[in-house]
Amino acid sequence: MCGIVAYSGSSDEVLPTLISGLKRLEYRGYDSAGVAIQSGKKIEVRKAVGKIVELEQAIATKPIHSSGSVGIAHIRWATHGLATVHNAHPHSSADRRIWLVHNGIIENYQEIRSQLEKQGIKFESETDTEVVAKLIGTLYSGDIRAAVLQAIKQLKGAYALAVVSQDEPGRLIGVKLASPMVVGVGHDEMIIASDVSAIIDRTKKVIYLEDGELIDVRGSDYEIVGFDEQPAEHKVEQIDWDLEAATKQGFDSFLLKEIMEQPRAIEDSIRGRIVLDDAMVKFGGLIDVRDRLKDIDQVVLLGIGTSYYSAKLGELYFNALTDIPTVAVMAPEFRYNKNNIGKNTWLIALSQSGETADTIAAIEEAKRHGVLATGIVNVVGSTIARITDAGVYNHIGPEISVASTKAFTSQSLILLMHAILLGRSDGLDFGQAKSLLQKISQLPGTIAKVLEQCDEIGAIAHKYEKAHNLLYIGRQYNYPVALEGALKIKEISYTHAEGLSAGELKHGFIALVDEHLPTIALATADALSDKMMANIEEVKARKGPVVAVANEKLSIADDTIVVPSIGNDLLQPIVNNIALQIFAYSVARARGLNIDQPRNLAKSVTVE
Ligand code: AGP
Ligand code: GLU
Repeated sequence: MCGIVAYSGSSDEVLPTLISGLKRLEYRGYDSAGVAIQSGKKIEVRKAVGKIVELEQAIATKPIHSSGSVGIAHIRWATHGLATVHNAHPHSSADRRIWLVHNGIIENYQEIRSQLEKQGIKFESETDTEVVAKLIGTLYSGDIRAAVLQAIKQLKGAYALAVVSQDEPGRLIGVKLASPMVVGVGHDEMIIASDVSAIIDRTKKVIYLEDGELIDVRGSDYEIVGFDEQPAEHKVEQIDWDLEAATKQGFDSFLLKEIMEQPRAIEDSIRGRIVLDDAMVKFGGLIDVRDRLKDIDQVVLLGIGTSYYSAKLGELYFNALTDIPTVAVMAPEFRYNKNNIGKNTWLIALSQSGETADTIAAIEEAKRHGVLATGIVNVVGSTIARITDAGVYNHIGPEISVASTKAFTSQSLILLMHAILLGRSDGLDFGQAKSLLQKISQLPGTIAKVLEQCDEIGAIAHKYEKAHNLLYIGRQYNYPVALEGALKIKEISYTHAEGLSAGELKHGFIALVDEHLPTIALATADALSDKMMANIEEVKARKGPVVAVANEKLSIADDTIVVPSIGNDLLQPIVNNIALQIFAYSVARARGLNIDQPRNLAKSVTVE
């Protein structure tokens, strides 16, 4: 998520370095920006909603004269609280002497905030970040490093922080846990940033901080220690990338970057939301509607495109784990079925962008009938996040590539967690829920294993790169994944593809099968494996080439993409889909297409 830049060096360079660094991080996606700079004896702060030019405008209107040697800056991609000036970083201690910027999520911020409020501390924002600044302020007695180390003992979650104190000019602290942070070691200057793109035009010498480490910078001297204050040794590494490559973190496209970062994104989606001992799911965003959930007698899952396919998977999850009838509805079709709206319907709208016009129109229609509408949205403060009664954010960071990848994975998982939440108040057995939640915790690791096979999957994809048409088949939980797999390859490689239930094949589609029509068969081991094998036989009997996605090599298939087993029929399709994402990407790349911005498509479809 988003970006930090912090600088220690010459006073003339502080502001220009921070601003140019932020601009280099712009590609990460953000909604507001801010800087804090030592000026005279004070720290001066400017913030703005929107693009970095707005921040530059705010600085031009009220110039900052940097007389000190340090400064911190941030572009925010909101996770807690709308994109407003108040919520923009940097945030400060109560006495406004300590300022910090933060990337990540503080899971237990509510608890800390309540404790601090009891001590009379006032808050100015809705962010989780502000509690860290206020907490450090209460612990500060002249040594900012000591206060930071004490404060982080109380934090749960993910954070990269850059902290400065008015009382210790020239000192800059960086800390990292489960959020990125890299340090550039320049000529008489140091730059701390979320990734090397903010550093690379100043220096190619960098230190990658590890989780659980703190860097204490004074001028161009620095010390790195663990959270236990023991010195940590670090090599200064030489970067051999150019700037263009760095903005995509070395990947050739945002799509590939977003596919590859899924283990981390999914960890962020799960973070703080599973209470294993109670076999329960905790969504802070649904607390306000808890009572209304007791009365619901129907669930409608709403979305379009990839978000709809995720809803289709969610429909199966809800119907398996709860007794409440659940249906996935394609957003533009919602209004044409009056039975989508009942007195006690719970409408759950899925949208990565939160700005999809079809989905917004359906939510508004439902709300006119007084239906409880909640969201599963990635972009904080987006229209859908605001017009729904409550909701859950994906917390996966910005998805920049037009074709959605990590959002599908996160949406599907969060739907499964919704189903467990509802199921637990509706007879879902403790043991079953607990074992599902344990499997969910294994998902990031299992996805990482699929990603390790990128080259092998790419090699198989290249064999089928010239196909004009493809069929994707799956059953039950794999059926929505067949639909999503076909959509992905259509979008980015312009290959015509059909996703279908494997059982549907012989009711028409099989007429198309010949040696020129490859079929991608989702055939991982599950309760329906025998039926799936029979469907593969049907294709083979008509000379159709078959690429199986399976847990071991299938002799009947022409090629097998071998994926690890997660040992659960509900979760395995999410794992399988990662392989289909890589397959689609590999075909598009082999064809030399514009992977991130396919023709005719837009990331956010704001017209019906
Ligand atoms: C996904 O790859 C597509 N670009 C598209 O189908 C997308 O999922 C759809 O437009 C919905 O977008 P949303 O999730 O932002 O509402
Ligand atoms: N959780 C913080 C917020 O919402 C930081 C978000 C970020 O990483 O930009 O303000």
